[in-house]
Amino acid sequence: MRTARVAMIGLGNVGRRLLELMQSKRDLMRTRFDLELVIVGACDKSGAAIANEGLKIAGILNLKHERKGIAAYPKAGQKNVTPQQLVETVDADVLVELSLTNLRDGEPGLSAIRRALQRKMHVVTANKGPLVLAYPEIAALAQSNGVKLLHSATVTGGLPTLNIGVRDLGVTVIEKVEGILNGTTNYILSRMAEGQTYAVALKHAQDIGMAEADPTLDVDGWDAANKLVIIANAVLRRPTKLKDVTVEGIRGVTQEDLRAAEKRGETIKLIATAEQAGHDYLLSVKPTLLEKSHPLAQLGAGTMGVMYHTDINGTIFAAIEENDPYPTAAGVLRDIVQTQS
Ligand SMILES: NC(=O)c1ccc[n+]([C@@H]2O[C@H](COP(=O)([O-])OP(=O)(O)OC[C@H]3O[C@@H](n4cnc5c(N)ncnc54)[C@H](OP(=O)(O)O)[C@@H]3O)[C@@H](O)[C@H]2O)c1
Repeated sequence: MRTARVAMIGLGNVGRRLLELMQSKRDLMRTRFDLELVIVGACDKSGAAIANEGLKIAGILNLKHERKGIAAYPKAGQKNVTPQQLVETVDADVLVELSLTNLRDGEPGLSAIRRALQRKMHVVTANKGPLVLAYPEIAALAQSNGVKLLHSATVTGGLPTLNIGVRDLGVTVIEKVEGILNGTTNYILSRMAEGQTYAVALKHAQDIGMAEADPTLDVDGWDAANKLVIIANAVLRRPTKLKDVTVEGIRGVTQEDLRAAEKRGETIKLIATAEQAGHDYLLSVKPTLLEKSHPLAQLGAGTMGVMYHTDINGTIFAAIEENDPYPTAAGVLRDIVQTQS
């Protein structure tokens, strides 16, 4: 049996789901991949726990369930250990980075990812911040250290948008990518198309935990733009920053706009697009009129999707409905397995 030693930063919504999946998929991973995962270190805001012989997943989940920090883990727990200190100390094959997305300076994830790559650990992350701010640098760092940097869950969670683009369309010219990359805005626009006001639809999205109390990142288009930046870097191999994307959110879309579109057999969706223009791509996120027959027009509340228009593979369309963080956690797990292939 092969063993992969895993260190985790972040034991929140995604981190806890990942731990649950590591438990429930343990036999499948042994049979299918001859692989056993051992958590040798984990940290949250309270500190860290480090144990070469492995931490008990049930023990970590119980602590988080009781709203205690990982620093309270019996014997192995230590208060005030930072993510970077964990990475510096732990003897792991894979760092799984699931801390919060910080788009100002990428911390604490960015420094931890850099250090893990320098220490020749594979890195798996669902955190967009470090990738949006420093993709070319950390991708090059992974390559020069001979390790993998996998982040398929950063874009559309469980939907393998990046894997299709990077791996399956690897020898194809991608002429255009268009996608509904943000579930919250699609929820709001879908509910508005059914007759709700923007304010009511937003409130519902907040009540079910889909939208943040401050919905700016979603409704002003920045979350979708961040994901487009990652697609541009990883799939289109275009060194891209957020400033390269023209961004318009959904605040200006009215019920009248949606009703008028409906009468013409159209609808309005927040579409992220990268379209070939000469040797470059034009990148935008904006509310877009789509004919009802367009595959993306048919994606309702809670659904995200992507279309790749290519030279030799025709058009590929994929979509996912995500109502909780399990598909994202499953995306992280598939990446962990891939680091060992
Ligand atoms: N939720 C989703 O469906 C989803 C989908 C795609 C991508 N993502 C991305 O995945 C990442 C994790 O999301 P989430 O929903 O699990 O977030 P979350 O519930 O807020 O969890 C964040 C975790 O990071 C820890 N953390 C925050 N700052 C830290 C610091 N300075 N030092 C050490 N630990 C720190 C928190 O510690 P405490 O537990 O002590 O608070 C918590 O365990 C984010 O980057 C998010 O954007 C999430």
